[in-house]
Amino acid sequence: MSNHHPARAVLFDAYGTLFDVYSVAELAEELFPGHGQTLSVVWRDKQIEYSRLVTTCNHGAHYRPFSEITRSALIYAIKKVAACASESSATAEFILEHEPAIEMLLAQYQHLDAFPENLAVLQQLKAQGIPMGILSNGNLSMLQAAVHSAGFDGLLDHVISVDPVRKFKPHPEAYALGEQTMGLPASHILFVSSNGWDALGATWYGYQTLWVNRYHLPFEELGCQPTRIGHSLNDVLNFFPT
Ligand code: LAC
Repeated sequence: MSNHHPARAVLFDAYGTLFDVYSVAELAEELFPGHGQTLSVVWRDKQIEYSRLVTTCNHGAHYRPFSEITRSALIYAIKKVAACASESSATAEFILEHEPAIEMLLAQYQHLDAFPENLAVLQQLKAQGIPMGILSNGNLSMLQAAVHSAGFDGLLDHVISVDPVRKFKPHPEAYALGEQTMGLPASHILFVSSNGWDALGATWYGYQTLWVNRYHLPFEELGCQPTRIGHSLNDVLNFFPT
C-alpha cells in the first residue's frame, strides 16, 4: 500500500459482490428440478456476455438496460439448460409456455440474498464516515429494489447505475461515473468487486481495488493484479483502520 494514497471512499460492485446472484438456484431448482445450479450459472454467464456484446458491437447501437439483458439471458439459460432447445420453436411461443417461471425468477432477482457479512461491514464504514456507493451495470430500479430488500437503506451515499452512459463495465465511461459522482480521483477510491474481470477493469482504469475472491478462483491472467485480494467483504475494513 505504500505507493497508494489512503483510500477516502468506497465503491462496490453490486451483483456477485453485495448480492448473491447464485441465490436464485434454489427457486430455479424448484421450477426446473435437477437444473437449478446450472441454470443460475448459465444465466449469470450469459448476462455478462450480453452486456459486453451490446456495449461493443456497432458502437453501442444495441444497448438496452441491464434488466432487459437479464431477462434475455434467463430465456437463453432456460432454453439451454432446462428445456429441449429443438422443441422450443419460436421464442414467443417458448416465453408464453414458460412465462410464470420467467417472471418468478426475475422477481427473485430483485430480492437476491446479500452475503451474510455485508450489512455489518457497511454499518461499520458508515460509522467511520467513509463515503460509499454502488457502481453497477444494473439499472437504477433493480439496484434500488435489491438495496432495499437487503436492508441497506440509508447506508450508501450513492447508487450509481451505468445506464446514463449506455455502456456497461468494463467500458471506461462506466468506471468514470464513479469518480465523477464521488468527486474524487479514482486513485483515491477503493473499488470492491467479487468479479475478477471487474476488479481488473477497475484496476486498469485507475482505482485502488479489492478483489473479493469468494469462490477461491484464480485471478485473471492478463498481467495485472488488484491492489489486494480478500475472501469476504470484511477485508474492505483493512483499508480503513480506525
Ligand atoms: C454489476 C455486475 C456486473 O455491475 O456484477 O453489478
